[in-house]
Amino acid sequence: MNRKSDGTKKLIGILGGTGKEGQGLALRWVQGGVDILLGSRDATKAANVALELNKKLGHKAVRGLTNRDVASRAEAIVSALPHQGHLETLERLQKDLEGKLVMVATVIWPPGPLERPSAAEEAQEMLTDRTRVVAAFQTVSAVGLRALDKEIEDDVLVCGEVAEARKQAISLIARTGLRGIDAGPLRNSRTIEAMTGVLLQVNKAHSTKHAGIRITGLGSIP
Ligand SMILES: NC(=O)c1ccc[n+]([C@@H]2O[C@H](COP(=O)([O-])OP(=O)(O)OC[C@H]3O[C@@H](n4cnc5c(N)ncnc54)[C@H](OP(=O)(O)O)[C@@H]3O)[C@@H](O)[C@H]2O)c1
Repeated sequence: MNRKSDGTKKLIGILGGTGKEGQGLALRWVQGGVDILLGSRDATKAANVALELNKKLGHKAVRGLTNRDVASRAEAIVSALPHQGHLETLERLQKDLEGKLVMVATVIWPPGPLERPSAAEEAQEMLTDRTRVVAAFQTVSAVGLRALDKEIEDDVLVCGEVAEARKQAISLIARTGLRGIDAGPLRNSRTIEAMTGVLLQVNKAHSTKHAGIRITGLGSIP
């Protein structure tokens, strides 16, 4: 697996981290040497899920906390919350998230018309430009992430208004073993959200649960 690391210790927080996607990302990041704060509405639930993940990994790199504690303590944040409850949760954590990178994995389901803002756009609008929001991981299946014995070929399309924030996210994504791809402004995340509906159809047609996206023609990217 091509896991690029700048060698520095990182602490990433996952809101809604007790869910399928959050757990999958936590497992992959820990394998890349990143420590994880796993968030929940319920600190005991988070601690129990963290315990299970640490058992699976064979060492203690995941800690379960409330979403608020995760938001205030982690250097960078992933939102792996369902759309229902997404904005409400971010609104409550607004102050804790200020100045941080927030990678939004949340997808509006079912995908709406392309005139409708994506979950990541809604988050950026609500959090204001004091918090840098990017969309990431929308097309990366939790099933693939959690199957640690298998290499994932997926690319992670990263959209955001600030080029530096996209770059920072891509560098953190590299620690999961996946390749982050700069996919331009945040508005493009609407199209990526819509692709999740297509991937579901592909899954059905090919009897799988982890169809994903791979971009070709890039040559070697640094
Ligand atoms: N599953 C996938 O393959 C996949 C792939 C790409 C993107 N996504 C997106 O990632 C997000 C998470 O997916 P998932 O499958 O991990 O979801 P999930 O398991 O249904 O939910 C994640 C966590 O969110 C918390 N939660 C549930 N309802 C909430 C509410 N109303 N307010 C605040 N927190 C709530 C729960 O944690 P607590 O009870 O511990 O608080 C739950 O464990 C979704 O938006 C999904 O579309 C999923």
